[in-house]
Amino acid sequence: MAKGFASCVLFIMYLSLLTLYSIGNGYSQHHNHQQDDGDDPLDGARKVGFFTVDDLYVGKVVGIQFYTRDPSSLPPFLSKEVANHFLFSIKELLLILQLFGMALGSLEAQLAERTLRFCAEEPTKGEQKTCATSIESFIEFASSMLGGGQYGVDFRSIKTTHLGKPVSIYQNYTFLDIKEVHSPIVVAFHIMDYPYIVYMCHSQTSRVYQIKIVGQNVGDALNAFVICHIDTSQWAPDHISFKLLSVKPGTILICHFFGPHNPV
Ligand SMILES: *[C@@H]1O[C@H](CO)[C@@H](O)[C@H](O)[C@H]1NC(C)=O
Repeated sequence: MAKGFASCVLFIMYLSLLTLYSIGNGYSQHHNHQQDDGDDPLDGARKVGFFTVDDLYVGKVVGIQFYTRDPSSLPPFLSKEVANHFLFSIKELLLILQLFGMALGSLEAQLAERTLRFCAEEPTKGEQKTCATSIESFIEFASSMLGGGQYGVDFRSIKTTHLGKPVSIYQNYTFLDIKEVHSPIVVAFHIMDYPYIVYMCHSQTSRVYQIKIVGQNVGDALNAFVICHIDTSQWAPDHISFKLLSVKPGTILICHFFGPHNPV
């Protein structure tokens, strides 16, 4: 860009991961709310396709299921003026459930509760985090990450894309081509389960890779992005990825794919 500012910010937007797990954030207490009752929690987590930085080589095979959401099925993204009329606090859970007509104990109520808990949590050490409940607060966080809108900051927005018709089954994917995407700051936006759009936006030290992958059963090819978390020592020791990978917190970079982004 015009002025040679050294900063570069990588924006990653993705949907639907959090319907499975609060991935890669170490908030393991969320893992007790399963989406499918009776399912082995490890099964759900396995579909996320965790792997370590040592697995980043051409020919590596990882089982993953990519979820796509139809943009027309997404709830509305509110303006700040409208969002300010709604309580957004775990302390007001019962009122909120009532307001949106969600039955206590229903799946949607459990997911909304999980979102509120998640958003109430303090960021882990070295993490910057916010839950944006409106378009304005989303933009505010994004521009604060960009250095307060300072002129000359270079940023890129990236997303995982299917190269053909999207397939959403659990299958083995082979790594075909791996490139590191260099960026000192990585900001990720996770869409949360809630009656209206809530983005959990956070920034952590991590490495990002672009990997071309292809499915072994159904030849679903993707140009996919992977984030590898550098410091996992702050994650809860019972984080599901440690169990799946048989590794200890803080010993190795843990990576996972971003699901395909649907424009909103
Ligand atoms: C993936 O590959 C492994 C090793 O070859 C195999 O055991 C497993 O059943 C495969 N998974 C799927 C979903 O095809």
